[in-house]
Amino acid sequence: MPSAAQPKTSSVPNRDAVWQRYREARAETERLAAPLATEDYVVQAMPDVSPPKWHLAHVTWFFEHFIAAPYARGFAPFHPEYGYLFNSYYETIGPFFPRLSRGLLSRPTVEEVYRYRAHVDRVIGDVIDTVGEGAWGEVARRIELGVHHEQQHQELLLTDLKFNFAFNPLKPAYQAPVERSSAAARALGWTDFDAGIRLIGYDGREFAFDNERPRHRVFLEPFRLANRLVTSGEYLAFIDDEGYSRPDLWLSEGWKTVRSAAGPPRSTGSGATASGGR
Ligand SMILES: [Fe+2]
Repeated sequence: MPSAAQPKTSSVPNRDAVWQRYREARAETERLAAPLATEDYVVQAMPDVSPPKWHLAHVTWFFEHFIAAPYARGFAPFHPEYGYLFNSYYETIGPFFPRLSRGLLSRPTVEEVYRYRAHVDRVIGDVIDTVGEGAWGEVARRIELGVHHEQQHQELLLTDLKFNFAFNPLKPAYQAPVERSSAAARALGWTDFDAGIRLIGYDGREFAFDNERPRHRVFLEPFRLANRLVTSGEYLAFIDDEGYSRPDLWLSEGWKTVRSAAGPPRSTGSGATASGGR
């Protein structure tokens, strides 16, 4: 299973608190998916995105495989093929369905995926209620990892939806436009940073993935950092200024992506790609 770095100290987590945290993360995923039409759940507009339906099932499989299977009483998988369909790329667990073809699956249906989620939620709730004290610490650690994994996929869900919708000439919107302030963005400024050795990596006591630890030294070349985020207006100005047609503005890897990205004409931002662990 994917690993989380061990906190420096550990105490036995409260079962009610763990259940509450689990339920909140699971509910947030479904809240994010609520604006979707059924057809939206199946689209995979390019190889690096996954259909929303796959995200919802994959995070569920994670809890089923890593917690329910080893710890639930009388465990039986919800469906014998779901491990193959919804394992992402954990080679040690077994073969998995080709990532590029996730959008070709009309089954299981969206409704079945939601039933799968509800079923695994019930099983995890039972595990939390009944697992022995000797195993509880490890179960709680795995649930914490699963919650963070699901939260990662919440980000991926939105990133992928953004690409899927942008690909569609009808320009569907995920939600109604948010009321925006008409105030202009503050003036762009830059802060210079000297080269030198810096400390990066987490050394706190809260959850962190293994690749976020340990605290360690890195050498940084001198760099400049803007005092605010890029605005949508600046991003559009870059596109209108033929930013996606000028190799002099890109490093080679980025330019390669721009040139190879499949999708609609540049007016919809065809250079964008989804990224992240899937
Ligand atoms: Fe994942």
